Amino acid sequence: MTATPAPGEGALARGLAGVVAGKTAICSLDGDLRYRGFSIEPLARAADFEDVAFLLLHGELPTAAEHRRFVDQIRDAAATLDPTVIEALAILAAREPGASPMDALRTGVSMLGLLSRDDTPGPHDTLVAAAERLLGQVPAMLAAWLDLTAGRPVAPWPNGPLATALLERLTGRTPAPAAITAFGATLVLYAEHEFNASTFAARTVVSTGSDMHSGVVAAIGALKGPLHGGANEKVLEVLGAIGGPERAAAWLEEQFAARRVVMGFGHRVYKDGDVRAKLLADLCRTLVHGTPAEGLEGLAARVEQIMLERKGLRPNLDWPAARVYHALGLPVKVFTPIFVVARMSGWTAHIIEQIGDNRLIRPLSLYSGPAPRTYRPLASR
Ligand code: COA
Repeated sequence: MTATPAPGEGALARGLAGVVAGKTAICSLDGDLRYRGFSIEPLARAADFEDVAFLLLHGELPTAAEHRRFVDQIRDAAATLDPTVIEALAILAAREPGASPMDALRTGVSMLGLLSRDDTPGPHDTLVAAAERLLGQVPAMLAAWLDLTAGRPVAPWPNGPLATALLERLTGRTPAPAAITAFGATLVLYAEHEFNASTFAARTVVSTGSDMHSGVVAAIGALKGPLHGGANEKVLEVLGAIGGPERAAAWLEEQFAARRVVMGFGHRVYKDGDVRAKLLADLCRTLVHGTPAEGLEGLAARVEQIMLERKGLRPNLDWPAARVYHALGLPVKVFTPIFVVARMSGWTAHIIEQIGDNRLIRPLSLYSGPAPRTYRPLASR
């Protein structure tokens, strides 16, 4: 039996930092962030979620007719969420009303996989169709979970593009145009980000020949963690814990002394700042201008200043996203699930890309356990 020789210490890249683990045609991060070649700035300012999700899944921007059809398709998938899933979520909500909506989504996607008999990678068109259904099913599950845990009947899914419909379902109000613009921009900015941890988890799962829903379940689990998508919920806790700009320096020094990371800062890839954070911070300032939520901007600016001076760290996308969601009146527990809704487009595009040109993802490890030793049977121990 021959095996690949064990790697030496020099081969070790902790956390896979700096490792190029595969090729992708979906997204690039070299200097500018681009989705399929298009710079993120015009997309964040002018595209809606359907424009971007279509681009990620199909490789090209939709025509006006394709865009209309895509909006309807996502809306129909949301409006016709399998009642069995709603019934199962209702049982779980009655038993654990305080459970995380992330756990509800992870469980719900797993149920959708079972109900659709998703047991094979399948042909390209089938995969795209399944991805398109998930784009509507998942936001509908999120809204249903909120209704069920609040003891309300599940409301119908509204007409219109995803950003408008989801915002209406999450707030219970018809959203204002400025709210839709800011919320839609967060969906566009959260939609895709190359080989991040959740996307890589999804690609790893389907690289074994497993199905799309299993890949998405793994991705939701990975996104939940506070070093990844969970950070946007923690950011609001940070702002609340500091309380005001005059307390920022003391609070941050405490975190540094305890070697705790400050949520919403730093990034594995962007070391000179996250282009998405800059774009969304601008939109956030416009959204909150003249509203009570404007109060958080001064505190955020002070924290940014200290983080840069003391640590050389700049904000990532979760830093302004939390303030936008707060300004829109959304409860903190839906911040990361909204990230799931948006990133579903990127995850499924990557799953389809991985399946289309697959090689099993299986890295090596550097052994650090006991030296070789001899087994003694139970009776002689
Ligand atoms: N607050 C305080 N210190 C931080 C920090 C933060 N948010 N992010 C990184 N650092 C520190 C690290 O602890 C490390 O310090 P050390 O050299 O004394 O050990 C140094 O900066 C370099 O960190 P780096 O290796 O570049 O971080 P990473 O690539 O391993 O981790 C993150 C990247 C995103 C996990 C990390 O920045 C982090 O935990 N950020 C907060 C969570 C967050 O906002 N996540 C969302 C990411 S989009």
